[in-house]
Amino acid sequence: MIGSERTSLMLEVIGMEKHELPGLGYGYAALEPYIDMETMKMHHMKHHQAYVDNLNAALDGHWRLSGKKIEDIVSGLAKVPENLKEAVRNHGGGHANHSFFWKVLEKGSVPESDVLEKLKDSFGSFKSFKDQFSKAAKGLFGSGWVWLVADRERLKIMVTRNQDSPLTVGKIPVLGLDVWEHAYYLQYQNRRPEYIEAFFKVINWERVAENLEKGSKGKVAI
Ligand SMILES: [Fe+2]
Repeated sequence: MIGSERTSLMLEVIGMEKHELPGLGYGYAALEPYIDMETMKMHHMKHHQAYVDNLNAALDGHWRLSGKKIEDIVSGLAKVPENLKEAVRNHGGGHANHSFFWKVLEKGSVPESDVLEKLKDSFGSFKSFKDQFSKAAKGLFGSGWVWLVADRERLKIMVTRNQDSPLTVGKIPVLGLDVWEHAYYLQYQNRRPEYIEAFFKVINWERVAENLEKGSKGKVAI
């Protein structure tokens, strides 16, 4: 095989890499009664799958991008060609955000002292953090996400619209809440405040602590 043929074959192989729907790591009913099985099934199997499929369709043939990890694609959105940028922003962001979200959910977890200490340093108290986070989630008009992000030594609350990721603007997510209606409407209808309250019952604080540890070193955890 001559050099150009080998290169062409390699590019073809790289270009065939597809993003895949990650598993939840727990059952669809594991977060009940706070987030019910039907909601989790639809959210993961239909909505997240659609972001993955649409991202793969958008990247088809774009071998330079399709072989990259989703967090690297979303972090480097500014470098994505203009004709792909909107699709990558929406579907790549959707894939990255949901992949992150599933991992910060677990029933029965409680924050340990180091996490509580960091929240206290940045917000004054856990209650103040929860109040500010909840207020941001209640006040978000339309669809989007509320995040706890690592910004140098501080933790901050951040809101992103649609499927925009904090990674795109250089912020490292530690915790995130999906405030799209598809995340709660089946169970809570228009009662978003109840969904937000329920979310605080299913935060995987161990994972948050890991994200904090990685975030403090400038590393991304998805
Ligand atoms: Fe979602």
